[in-house]
Amino acid sequence: MKISVCAKGGSGKSTIVMLLANEARNRNNRVLIVDSDESNSGLYKMLGFEKPPTPLMELVGGKASLKKNMGKPGIFAADKILVDEIPPGYLLQHDNIMLVSIGKILQSLEGCACPMGVLSREFLKKIVVNDGEMVIVDMEAGVEHFGRGVETSIDNVLIVVEPPFESTEVATKIYGMSRGSGIKNTWAVLNKIPNEEIKKRLKKELDTRGIEVIGCVYLDHEIFMASVDGRVPKQGAAANEIKGVMDFILTKKGERRSN
Ligand SMILES: Nc1ncnc2c1ncn2[C@@H]1O[C@H](COP(=O)(O)OP(=O)(O)OP(=O)(O)O)[C@@H](O)[C@H]1O
Ligand SMILES: [Mg+2]
Repeated sequence: MKISVCAKGGSGKSTIVMLLANEARNRNNRVLIVDSDESNSGLYKMLGFEKPPTPLMELVGGKASLKKNMGKPGIFAADKILVDEIPPGYLLQHDNIMLVSIGKILQSLEGCACPMGVLSREFLKKIVVNDGEMVIVDMEAGVEHFGRGVETSIDNVLIVVEPPFESTEVATKIYGMSRGSGIKNTWAVLNKIPNEEIKKRLKKELDTRGIEVIGCVYLDHEIFMASVDGRVPKQGAAANEIKGVMDFILTKKGERRSN
């Protein structure tokens, strides 16, 4: 199963990715987190690693050489990539949670992020997911990744929606693009919800836009404070709420892409 977590910037994608990964691991899954966000690199810290993984982009010689090097001997030349083939340093693992990073924009004027999109798409297409394994993608903010076809092989898209109106607007675009690219299992998870009234309002608004809400994480002081240290709490109300989200996703396992 490959789950992509998408949203407007700052809505809580990485937080929800971490909560989902912890929940999947608690259910005895081996989880591969794919960091497909070319700007932020905090996931490694949230996972308790000392430094980030070396980006997969470096395995293919960097952005400029991507096209030339993809077909050359190496893990990207084959049709399939097995997790255990990814060289150490490029794959970090601890306690059944693994992390890879596609690539980061590090310098000014280094050019656009399109090659990251290409590499994300190819990696997600080729990575083999066996029974008892799950891939969770922390996607770049916004909608551009759909234009680059990054979701070609994804079977579940979770859209994180926080109260500000812009978040619902971006969510609506993501929903349209995701369903348009054949991903039937596209749902919303509310995040940073301050009270029942806002929850009701948001749910109603998303409902009128045809977007089903499958979970709600409340505005949580503990989550916010933990983020000062680059952490996400493993227990608490949000972790409990995510159990329901995971149950829902698993019941829809058989219904994947419509094309
Ligand atoms: N339910 C919540 N309650 C309180 N704070 C939250 C909640 N969810 C996320 N946050 C906080 O919001 C901030 C942004 O969260 P996060 O980094 O997960 O968002 P993101 O969508 O991954 O951002 P980016 O687009 O920059 O990658 C963090 O400080 C995080 O702790
Ligand atoms: Mg993030």
